[in-house]
Amino acid sequence: MRHLLATEGLSLENAVRILDTAEEMAAVGEREIKKLPALRGRTVVNLFFEDSTRTRISFEAAAKRLSADVINFAAKGSSVSKGESLKDTAQTLEAMSADAVVIRHWASGAPHRLAESGWINAAVINAGDGTHEHPTQALLDAFTLRRHWSRLAGTPSAGGNLAGMRIAVAGDVLHSRVARSNVWLLQTLGASVTLVAPPTLLPVGVEAWPCEVSYDLDSVLDRGVDAIMMLRVQAERMQASFFPSPREYSRRWGFDDARLARLDELGLADTVILHPGPMNRGLEISSAAADSPRSTVLAQVRNGVSVRMAALYLLLSGNLHPEPAPGHRAATTSETAL
Ligand code: CP
Repeated sequence: MRHLLATEGLSLENAVRILDTAEEMAAVGEREIKKLPALRGRTVVNLFFEDSTRTRISFEAAAKRLSADVINFAAKGSSVSKGESLKDTAQTLEAMSADAVVIRHWASGAPHRLAESGWINAAVINAGDGTHEHPTQALLDAFTLRRHWSRLAGTPSAGGNLAGMRIAVAGDVLHSRVARSNVWLLQTLGASVTLVAPPTLLPVGVEAWPCEVSYDLDSVLDRGVDAIMMLRVQAERMQASFFPSPREYSRRWGFDDARLARLDELGLADTVILHPGPMNRGLEISSAAADSPRSTVLAQVRNGVSVRMAALYLLLSGNLHPEPAPGHRAATTSETAL
């Protein structure tokens, strides 16, 4: 496997290898000297056509901890704003001898295009493409959940999977690449996933995804969940009104203070609350929930560095198994604009 483009089609073997290697990287992160020489002399390019805080910074930290040289490229302020294409941008970076290109792009399918085009020789890592996938986010979420699940079981995290874990993923599924990547990866790892959203915020074809679908957050909580992942309402991708008002959305779909208290009433003492960030506090999640001891928001950010170190290291050292050719790929309608 040369590129990390999606969790759909990512084998259990490769997923577990990335998570286990991330455990080793996390152990390095606890040392006084956090650096490894593993990627000395290699160059990692962070190619960001969309805004990012967590993903961009953690890829930079990950590459630096592995002693790679890092080039950060943001479309804003670059020749992209003068109309330069993805191909010309990528080939410019290739001329600087990039070994890995981490790409975030507004167009679903852009990382696939880069990986399959022959424009560059570098390994390509998808850091979020349109509404399609965000595989390293799902891997860091799974890493966070696996640690939690192992702690409850009293077993080591490494080598484990999420068999038996009940996970609800709630909110703006329609626009969420995080939801899509999580559904595929979590089912590969053995968890059962329920998507919870208003009907207007579910994508066409969701019934073919390997998960249950519900419109009712309270009934899903009442059935019992081990983790609830709240999704950001992506107002910047909405060209229409998908719910009556923010107040109504929060009341029906938000993880508010009442639902936080409900977990206690239900005796769900070990249920954790995830959010990929950035959060709309007061909309999809209340501050009390985001800052509660159940919240894993900051652990997710911390774990992101370990998981991205693992992905960079394994791809650049050729230590992942070949994957079968993908049977499915992102809709590519926006590729013509690349
Ligand atoms: N979770 C996530 O992708 O955050 P950023 O947009 O800040 O990278």
